[in-house]
Amino acid sequence: MKRDIRSELSGILPTELIGLVPRSFDVIGSKGHAVAVIEVSIELEPYGASIGEALMRIQRNVKSVLSKGTERRGGFRVREMTLLAGEPNMEVLHKESGCVFKVDPAKVYFSPRESTEREKIASQVSPGERVLVMFSGVGPYAICIAKRQPTASCVAIEFNPEGHRYCVENIRLNKLSDRVTAILGDVREVCPTLSERFNRVLMPLPKGAYEYLDVAIPMVKPSGILHFYHWAPRDDPFSEGERILFSTVEKQCRKAEVIDKVRVSQYSPSAWKIRIDARIC
Ligand SMILES: C[S@@+](CC[C@H](N)C(=O)[O-])C[C@H]1O[C@@H](n2cnc3c(N)ncnc32)[C@H](O)[C@@H]1O
Repeated sequence: MKRDIRSELSGILPTELIGLVPRSFDVIGSKGHAVAVIEVSIELEPYGASIGEALMRIQRNVKSVLSKGTERRGGFRVREMTLLAGEPNMEVLHKESGCVFKVDPAKVYFSPRESTEREKIASQVSPGERVLVMFSGVGPYAICIAKRQPTASCVAIEFNPEGHRYCVENIRLNKLSDRVTAILGDVREVCPTLSERFNRVLMPLPKGAYEYLDVAIPMVKPSGILHFYHWAPRDDPFSEGERILFSTVEKQCRKAEVIDKVRVSQYSPSAWKIRIDARIC
């Protein structure tokens, strides 16, 4: 049975602080080499190294422990993280749904918690579809789609050079070079240069995707699907996203039919990440 991190820290941390240690943490990587990312509150900061070492004792494949220093920030949506314990080399191979992703969680956005969401989107893709993944990061959506649907093909656009570099490497590792193309650049500049229109366009940038709807909508073929992610208030999660979507669609003389509205995950007590799926005509 896996040992509990709080029991492991008993006698090491003051008793009154043990309850502040999170029981759960993200593990990115493989059975042989993984990185853990844990949230350490201000009160626990002086004990960061002890917490990191305890985590590595209870989960032997974890070779580095990072603390979530800040919220995800800036255009690249990366946290400033602190190495609590273990090796400074944090590049790992993460396996999920028959795909493998090489990633350094300190340098690029990657969330193992989003595997179910990736699978849900991939399961909707029909044979032969051409899919555009905006904000593609290290490529998990594009790769997951191409692995699951062997006749679909994807274009993935990312402007973090490190994210793009990993995406190129991940396409190669997953043997998808014939069906997934990675482009380095800002979607606002790259999309208008693409002559093609797509059956499906993904916008997996919840904080700010709405600012790029004017670029995304022209990329969707008539009757194609748009997956629009948005951060929304818990009490009324869909109204704002729908309003922005419909107003942008109208400005472009297109029409939208909402086909699904999904609460994807809770971001904070008051905010949700949501997804609106729309057919763009
Ligand atoms: C929330 S992350 C999602 C990454 C990836 N889709 C995933 O699920 O792991 C958003 C990504 O969009 C990239 N990004 C943000 N604005 C961008 C833009 N204008 N053009 C291209 N990429 C952008 C960031 O660098 C980041 O990697």
